[in-house]
Amino acid sequence: MKKNILITGATSGIGYATAKGLIEKGHRLIITGRERLKAENAKSELEKIAKDAKVDYLLADMSDAHSVLELVKQIHSKIEKLDVLINNAGLLSDEKKITKDGFEAHLAINHIMPALLANELKPLLQKSNDARVVFLTTGGHHFGKIDFDDLQSEKSFYAFKAYGSSKLMHLMWNYSIAEEWHKEGVKVYAADPGGAKTNMTDAMSSNYLPFPFKLLFPLMKLTVGGSVEKAAKSSIYLSTSDEVKDKTALYVNHKMKIVKSSKKSYDKEIQKKVKGKTKQWLEKIKSRYHNMYKINSGLDVNQNRCCH
Ligand SMILES: NC(=O)c1ccc[n+]([C@@H]2O[C@H](COP(=O)([O-])OP(=O)(O)OC[C@H]3O[C@@H](n4cnc5c(N)ncnc54)[C@H](OP(=O)(O)O)[C@@H]3O)[C@@H](O)[C@H]2O)c1
Repeated sequence: MKKNILITGATSGIGYATAKGLIEKGHRLIITGRERLKAENAKSELEKIAKDAKVDYLLADMSDAHSVLELVKQIHSKIEKLDVLINNAGLLSDEKKITKDGFEAHLAINHIMPALLANELKPLLQKSNDARVVFLTTGGHHFGKIDFDDLQSEKSFYAFKAYGSSKLMHLMWNYSIAEEWHKEGVKVYAADPGGAKTNMTDAMSSNYLPFPFKLLFPLMKLTVGGSVEKAAKSSIYLSTSDEVKDKTALYVNHKMKIVKSSKKSYDKEIQKKVKGKTKQWLEKIKSRYHNMYKINSGLDVNQNRCCH
């Protein structure tokens, strides 16, 4: 059965390879990107894969809550039902940045904005009889640590620390909501792509780590040389396989095997704290952009028909 699938950050890397694999299986896609030209190119290349391929693109900056809410509005105007949301866009950078909404950028792009997007698209997902939210996690979450006294990395910042912690946080948020969302008809899954050579991993340097871990960098770089096609398999599997249809809160590795994530990721107390903190952040966004929420309730979505 053809599914409506939304993939964030699908103009390059694993997201683009995931889109290719899903088009080959005959699904209808909406991809998101930041740059119009890149998104247009991705759409036209993807449409060459199959004669009846259906791909649309929307522009969104996943560091910016306003842009994410605009994306939500456009998706509501475009489709009546969403079967799968793939939260693929992600950040790993040694530049410390604070977003327009006042969040450290890794925290925003790897956790808060995917949570906002999933939350706001939930009503559309609930119209599907097999609704799934898949997000791209990393084996690096094993090294992540959620420091509730320094969630914004104000006291110390290293790229891998900010990345691993934000990915761990998103994983734990997913586990914390999984049961409740499953009852409401939406399943949540973590796809671990393993290591792939992409723009993100090409940019990695030993500066991403503090001393003495810097010394391990050459070894670490060896683990990210795989193909994007191989890395896309876990998200394609979780988006489409009937084997996982009745389960939620799964962690699937690059070999498409259901495995356990780190022991700390199952800590219920920390999950509860992550859930509470995330709720606060989403409420802060809601009060800042309360006018957008009126729009997203469906009042004027038809005035904004998008489609590229
Ligand atoms: N590669 C690996 O070894 C590996 C391992 C584990 C997990 N992952 C995860 O896999 C996902 C895809 O990463 P990748 O390796 O394929 O890297 P990539 O090619 O650099 O892709 C990252 C994607 O995220 C998008 N993105 C970044 N910041 C964004 C923003 N502010 N707004 C909108 N889009 C934004 C990028 O868009 P632009 O093209 O516009 O920059 C790009 O499409 C990420 O979540 C990453 O954490 C990757």
